[in-house]
Amino acid sequence: MRKKIVAGNWKMNKNLTETKNLLADLKVKFEHMPNGEIIVAPTSVNLQYTSEALKGSGIKVAAQNMHQAESGAFTGEISADMLKSIGVNIVILGHSERRAYFGENDTLLAGKVQTALKNDMTIIFCFGEELEDRKSDTHFTVVENQLKNALFTLEASAWKQIVLAYEPVWAIGTGETASPEQAQEMHAFIRTTIKNKFNAAIAEEVSILYGGSVKPANAQEIFAKPDVDGGLIGGASLDAASFAAIGNAM
Ligand code: 13P
Repeated sequence: MRKKIVAGNWKMNKNLTETKNLLADLKVKFEHMPNGEIIVAPTSVNLQYTSEALKGSGIKVAAQNMHQAESGAFTGEISADMLKSIGVNIVILGHSERRAYFGENDTLLAGKVQTALKNDMTIIFCFGEELEDRKSDTHFTVVENQLKNALFTLEASAWKQIVLAYEPVWAIGTGETASPEQAQEMHAFIRTTIKNKFNAAIAEEVSILYGGSVKPANAQEIFAKPDVDGGLIGGASLDAASFAAIGNAM
């Protein structure tokens, strides 16, 4: 049975005091864990605090990004080894904001994926089409290419470490959500693409999260779709009550 996951991507929000408060609230809200995994991804500055604060809670911690090199002269960057040394074993890669504002392309991301795998990390790999792609009816091709360019060269065994997150760019932070039917249609396409390239067992086992304006009001309907295995949550993960409501909608 594949895992259900709700992950909160805090992006560049929450200073240390706010992080402490939100984590304390989340530990109370998730005293009884839902039927799935809860992950939070705070800013890198607060990862060490978060990693320690969440010990024993059942809530897991992820980084929002990491560098593809093992170490070296890369001012301002963070390596897989550094993350692992503070107990962070999960990393989000390929977020559309990294692609759009920091020039991360499929080739670079393929390198990051390899480095994360080599370091035994779990990867939440993000991808998704832009509005123009959907309007011109090329969204399936765009998504297939994103998967192909970053993940098609993986060994079959690597898929145990991969979680997919489909985030249509037009639905991120816009209040515009893909309808549950649009999400299901794309998730089913993604699973079929993985099945055709790898095999049915891998396709059945990989968790595919939906991201883009998920809120307590729409989470249940989206998560109820058979190929949607949870969500990657931005804005609504910054508030303990709304993130808990979404987590409990898994
Ligand atoms: P929103 O939930 O704010 O639309 O953000 C989604 C997202 O980008 C999560 O990574």
